[in-house]
Amino acid sequence: MNDAQVAVVGGTGRMGSWMAGLLERRGHRVLRTGRRTRLRAEDAAGSSQVVIVSVPVQRTAEIIRRVGPLVGEDGLLMDLTSVKKEPVHAMLANSRAQVVGLHPLFGPDAGPTKSPLTVAVCPGRGKEGLRWITRVLRTQGYDVGVIEPGEHDRIMGVVQGANHFATLALALCIGRSGIPVERLERWSTPSFRLALDRIRSLLGQPEALLEALMTETGAARGGVAGFRIAVEALAEATLAEERGRFRNLFHEMEEALENRVFAPRIEGTEGG
Ligand SMILES: NC(=O)c1ccc[n+]([C@@H]2O[C@H](COP(=O)([O-])OP(=O)(O)OC[C@H]3O[C@@H](n4cnc5c(N)ncnc54)[C@H](OP(=O)(O)O)[C@@H]3O)[C@@H](O)[C@H]2O)c1
Repeated sequence: MNDAQVAVVGGTGRMGSWMAGLLERRGHRVLRTGRRTRLRAEDAAGSSQVVIVSVPVQRTAEIIRRVGPLVGEDGLLMDLTSVKKEPVHAMLANSRAQVVGLHPLFGPDAGPTKSPLTVAVCPGRGKEGLRWITRVLRTQGYDVGVIEPGEHDRIMGVVQGANHFATLALALCIGRSGIPVERLERWSTPSFRLALDRIRSLLGQPEALLEALMTETGAARGGVAGFRIAVEALAEATLAEERGRFRNLFHEMEEALENRVFAPRIEGTEGG
């Protein structure tokens, strides 16, 4: 794989450019395709040993069905989609190639961070391709975490689904409060300033990406369903002005974090 030609389907996009740049820096010839490139996805895939699909979530399975059969048996087919169960299943079903699912747990504009950025790696088929991409990512300074696709999606239901939902809900609540944002900023606490930064960063994402991630993946819907149950329990305890109920929930949260688990498991948080 070390001198393989690589095709990045969606290589004109943000994460596709990240991956293409990373491999070019290691000396690989990388073909990038988009909807308007002269080079078609099928032609790039058919002539490359490594093929990486990095298209919008809702297009991923369809593109895998088109390019998967064109990758040779000793080739490597990968994707960068934010959910993993469906793409990995589609790659295995539509190709004889080695298969690895990837999910960079950061956006294309991620700046320097204190700890290394993580790429989730879902082994699909074959060892050589898995070893190669793991080594490539590690030597570029990324933390590589190996995880099974279903477990990845279940965790992303919380890390992305519930987390983004909480941020969006706060944004909606702020908008509907009728208080101008300049006033809120003027009277912000440090923690509220962080919340505003998070909202701005999330709303800076392309609408289509966020919409697809939130509404079209079972993982996010599962996370949001669990979040809603938690919010309702917390709202009831808060609005009922019953200190005991609130305190019980608070203890439950403390215990969950101390044990480093999200317990008890809430029905509906299963990934899709
Ligand atoms: N953005 C993130 O923070 C992030 C982080 C981790 C993983 N991901 C995943 O990375 C993947 C790509 O996301 P992105 O943010 O890089 O998106 P993006 O910037 O919109 O790029 C999408 C790419 O797919 C191509 N494309 C769009 N529709 C297509 C279609 N119908 N057929 C073929 N190609 C099509 C686009 O071509 P054009 O140039 O013609 O538009 C572009 O090259 C997604 O699966 C997402 O879940 C994103």
